[in-house]
Amino acid sequence: MTELNVKRQALVNTADQFLLDIYGGLSQPQKSLPCKYFYDEKGSELFDQICQTDEYYHTRTELKILDDILPTVAGMIGPYVDILEFGSGAGIKIRKLINALEHPRSYTPIDISEEILLSSSHALQQEYPELEVHPVVADYLSPIELPASFADETAHRKLVFFPGSTISNFDMPDAIHFLKHIRSLLSPGDALLIGVDLVKPVPRLLAAYNDRQGVTAAFNLNLLHRIKATYDTDLNVDNFWHHALYNAEKHRIEMHLVSRVAQTVTIQGQSFVFKERETIHTENSYKFSIEGFRMMALNAGFDSTECFTDDANLFSVHFLTAT
Ligand code: AVI
Repeated sequence: MTELNVKRQALVNTADQFLLDIYGGLSQPQKSLPCKYFYDEKGSELFDQICQTDEYYHTRTELKILDDILPTVAGMIGPYVDILEFGSGAGIKIRKLINALEHPRSYTPIDISEEILLSSSHALQQEYPELEVHPVVADYLSPIELPASFADETAHRKLVFFPGSTISNFDMPDAIHFLKHIRSLLSPGDALLIGVDLVKPVPRLLAAYNDRQGVTAAFNLNLLHRIKATYDTDLNVDNFWHHALYNAEKHRIEMHLVSRVAQTVTIQGQSFVFKERETIHTENSYKFSIEGFRMMALNAGFDSTECFTDDANLFSVHFLTAT
């Protein structure tokens, strides 16, 4: 197998951090848990299943848009690009991008999950022997030291790829902060290709987060299964149900876990009291207008060069240029 040049950023002990985040989140007046903890092995499998449900339009719509636009994007960015992707590029989207670009020079995927990152990087390196693959094991929300290929200011044009509307799961200040962080990695003329979910009629949104097969419900409840599997606790997962609602004022889907009964749950010796119907807020998924996202990008130092959508205006892919 080809040797990969892997960078590892010192990670906080994630088990301890998980417990601290549980204690912090469940001690608030509105109980909450960070959505990043959805993605253990089971949660990642369930997310893949969500992407295939009839109701979850995001993935198939974004793939169709990418098919349509990547030749144009390749023309705009030019040859010998250095690509950086936040999140694991295990799949089909990064291959579409690599196939469309003219002689891409390097690919730097950043992901917290070392196993998935390394296996997908090895597979890509085998498939594209000419491409330099430089995986970085890191939590991309904290400062990251990048490989020389990407840090090199004078070299080739850089393209950051952030598909899947993951930006939707950041709260607004964090989303702006993250876009600014991406901008700080780029020089003027470099680009960001980012997938962004769009505002649309509420029934369509509600259906996407309340699929008939119950996969999204299982995904949400898996967070409680993860707590149960990790810690000493009397938590009974059956005492909670999945609820997704649209918060029109904040333009976001909210996912909650609702307590069926009044109960006390003890986790590693610490007790948390729930009233009947009290909720744990587990995720926000913001929906953007094209103009709203453009303004945010502008604020972070990007010019909106192109925005591509599907015929039904369900999803958008922005090609942004660093100014
Ligand atoms: C990853 N992210 C963009 C998904 C979303 O739609 O906000 C996560 C998800 N939550 C429930 N279904 C999908």
